[in-house]
Amino acid sequence: MNESKTAVVTGAGGGIGSEVASRLAADGFRVFAFDLHFRDDAWQDDRNRDRIEQVVVDLGDHLAIRSAFEELGGRIESLNALVNCVGIMRRGDALALSDEDWFDTIRVNTTGVYFACREALPLLTKNETSSIANIASNWGLIPAPGHIAYNASKSAVVSLSKSLALDFGKQGVRVTAVCPGEILTPMVEKRLRDNNITEEQLAEPIPIGRVGRPADVAALMSYLVGPESSYVTGGTVEITGGLFS
Ligand SMILES: NC(=O)c1ccc[n+]([C@@H]2O[C@H](COP(=O)([O-])OP(=O)(O)OC[C@H]3O[C@@H](n4cnc5c(N)ncnc54)[C@H](O)[C@@H]3O)[C@@H](O)[C@H]2O)c1
Repeated sequence: MNESKTAVVTGAGGGIGSEVASRLAADGFRVFAFDLHFRDDAWQDDRNRDRIEQVVVDLGDHLAIRSAFEELGGRIESLNALVNCVGIMRRGDALALSDEDWFDTIRVNTTGVYFACREALPLLTKNETSSIANIASNWGLIPAPGHIAYNASKSAVVSLSKSLALDFGKQGVRVTAVCPGEILTPMVEKRLRDNNITEEQLAEPIPIGRVGRPADVAALMSYLVGPESSYVTGGTVEITGGLFS
């Protein structure tokens, strides 16, 4: 455990992101949790809560992202890890989706992740090695019907992660796109409610026989930002319980 390591986790106000923040804090990171809203139950009973600092920032606003990292740069020497968990889901095919839903999805899921990476890079490259893990989705690899904006926004995250790995590998920055399948979070709970299906029904086609948990993804993130993954970069890691799409 290294007390001096620092990490930014975006979308850390709930769901997968808050679990990742807790896990990295338990790993010894000082964690800056970026989100617009922090759920009351995000870090209940967390023994490492004192290592997590909440930073309110709109990740759909690139200038706000820039300011947040500039402010952070005034407080810390360098950054060891960035984990982007921020994301929104808007449903609809090309004729059903509103213009606003298209722009919102791209603004948060793609542009927000891009700018978080871009603004973090000067701090990340101050270390000999550092790591970025960006949550895309298995739908960014194989699109799901009726989610054109979300699918496209996540394919872009896969691509921009590979570009960053190519461009900054020599400066010690490793970059991985993480593609989860079904993970039980507020985002998926809403989908279950909207479609009137149960968790058991969602689990039926999943080869491993269960819906994933945020802790499953947090364990993978812990590995990806840690020293054991020092030759892992430029790729996508699927965490789907064996589901292909
Ligand atoms: N849950 C799944 O099954 C699943 C599957 C594949 C990919 N993902 C991806 O994993 C990531 C986390 O998803 P989740 O299920 O935990 O979702 P979630 O909705 O529970 O959490 C997303 C977080 O992002 C924050 N956020 C949204 N817009 C923001 C903005 N403009 N500024 C700041 N924060 C903002 C929300 O407040 C929330 O805390 C997302 O990128 C999602 O697309 C989730």
